[in-house]
Amino acid sequence: MVKRCMGWITAASVVTADVTLLFLRLFKQSSSNMGDREYPIILCHGPTKQELIVSGDMTVQDLVVKVEEMTQVPRGHQKILHKGRNLVNSSSNLSQLGVGQGAKVMILGKINPQRTGVEEEEEEEDKECEAVRKIDMSCTGLESTLNEVITNVNCIERNFDTHSRGEALGRYRKNLLGINEEFMRLLEQLDGLELQENAKVRRKCVVRRIQTLMEKSDRVHDQINNLRGQYP
Ligand SMILES: *[C@@H]1O[C@H](CO)[C@@H](O)[C@H](O)[C@H]1NC(C)=O
Ligand SMILES: *[C@@H]1O[C@H](CO)[C@@H](O)[C@H](O)[C@H]1NC(C)=O
Repeated sequence: MVKRCMGWITAASVVTADVTLLFLRLFKQSSSNMGDREYPIILCHGPTKQELIVSGDMTVQDLVVKVEEMTQVPRGHQKILHKGRNLVNSSSNLSQLGVGQGAKVMILGKINPQRTGVEEEEEEEDKECEAVRKIDMSCTGLESTLNEVITNVNCIERNFDTHSRGEALGRYRKNLLGINEEFMRLLEQLDGLELQENAKVRRKCVVRRIQTLMEKSDRVHDQINNLRGQYP
């Protein structure tokens, strides 16, 4: 008889487990035809017992993932014992290890081991770096637009493109203003990010990159102003 202790299991995870059981029971008939018979085992973690439906071909590795879902003990921090034996070989299957129907499996491990603090921090840092990376990608897009303008202006300067030059220069100048506004917007976005050490270093690189590109843009702007003197 499996007793569920509501101590720390959230109502949601119990509901999920019930739905899973129901689903697996409905499913059982057809799956037994496929030769991988499913059966319940009992996970004991502290005072809590939970039923888990497994099959003989399930590996310890798969079990570890299920145990993490059901007990909230992170996979790297679990010790899984069956009849006093530690289930360590993660590629072994349950049938091989003699974990049969109704087997009691003991789970040792804390729900919130010390390291999760560090892991959360790392996750947070990944998110921060991702935000910086996205801005860097926008920067790449703007750079190629800027380079197009530069090429076009150079063509006019070298007299390769003589067709309505004044008008074209006006258009490129407008493009440049738009590009600069975008760069400013990206700088503001970067400035608004709350970052830790690693991501801060990345941000510095992207800020430098934008500053360099804005200087480049300023030079083209001057170049356009000079040319407009010649081709009003
Ligand atoms: C479990 O693994 C053994 C050894 O690899 C294999 O012979 C057996 O068929 C597997 N059992 C199931 C139910 O997959
Ligand atoms: C782990 O299990 C696999 C598959 O059953 C087996 O081939 C391997 O020898 C085992 N390794 C150890 C260290 O027991």
